[in-house]
Amino acid sequence: MKRGYMLEYESQIEKKTIKAKPVLKWVGGKTQLLPELTKRLNKVINECDTYIEPFIGAGALFFHLKSNEYLYNTIKKWYISDFNKDLVLLYRVVKYEVYALIKELDIISSKYLKLNDNDRKTFYYDTRAQFNAILNDINYDLFDESSIKRAAYIVFLNKTCFNGLYRVNAKGEFNVPMGKYKNPQILNFNNLINVNNILQNVEINCHNFSDIKYEINEKTFIYFDPPYRPLKENSSFTAYSKCDFDDEMQRNLAKYFKNNHYSSAKMLLSNSDSKLSDKEQDFFDSLYSDFSIERVYALRNVNSKGNLRGKITEILISNF
Ligand SMILES: C[S@@+](CC[C@H](N)C(=O)[O-])C[C@H]1O[C@@H](n2cnc3c(N)ncnc32)[C@H](O)[C@@H]1O
Repeated sequence: MKRGYMLEYESQIEKKTIKAKPVLKWVGGKTQLLPELTKRLNKVINECDTYIEPFIGAGALFFHLKSNEYLYNTIKKWYISDFNKDLVLLYRVVKYEVYALIKELDIISSKYLKLNDNDRKTFYYDTRAQFNAILNDINYDLFDESSIKRAAYIVFLNKTCFNGLYRVNAKGEFNVPMGKYKNPQILNFNNLINVNNILQNVEINCHNFSDIKYEINEKTFIYFDPPYRPLKENSSFTAYSKCDFDDEMQRNLAKYFKNNHYSSAKMLLSNSDSKLSDKEQDFFDSLYSDFSIERVYALRNVNSKGNLRGKITEILISNF
């Protein structure tokens, strides 16, 4: 951590219980579903010493658990990962270089919030262009000036773009248009410090969901929240990164789930409910027929078709 930056901000640190929220807005974020998820997870989590979340996204469940760690104190090893390189870069920068990130966000935020609507638009598209221009210069394993800048751009773009979407084109360039926010919170100082604290004993990795490097056994809890299988009416729903998560990937994940079941890991998985758009669809019901499948209500507004907006069911699959 850069000591100079730390001293500059030290007096603002709140020394209280650590409560941390997701740093980003993320499509498929699970804040809405937390009561349903914790109700189920609470049945077994105290038998576990390892928590793994291989599709971390914005990490709604992970941050909830870490913010209530006294309830989950049997967990000694925390492991999060995602396929999205930029997302993982951001978590690592928050973990190792939070003050340098805060400094960058402070500069961006003070410049941006002073501007009128037209100048904000120019600023947004210039930043997006810079973000894309440095794509090939980034060393994702090093926290140098350009990776810290990139992490700050990720936060800025996420807070000011349309619906907090992360969408890239075939060249890997971020192409989400600007959103409409009067007063976006680009820098949330206390939350970043809290997230930094929380991440200190967490291993953060970037890989495919099945490449977890931890030993998986009966004391492992895994929460899988893969990209949703698109409901018929909404085919762009899974575009989180260059690699689309198609039905073949959903099947591979089901196989992986089954294998871990043989290792006695406790697992919970969420996904969209294919039956919503087609009552005859039993894609997940047949893939996970050996396990418990429940349908729970969630509020969603990503769908473009009115009939799929609002309160819809999602599925929760568990092996306990
Ligand atoms: C539904 S989101 C997770 C949302 C998260 N639970 C939250 O509360 O914000 C799915 C995540 O899976 C990641 N992902 C997509 N394909 C993947 C793969 N093959 N392996 C690991 N992660 C992947 C995406 O980058 C995205 O962050």
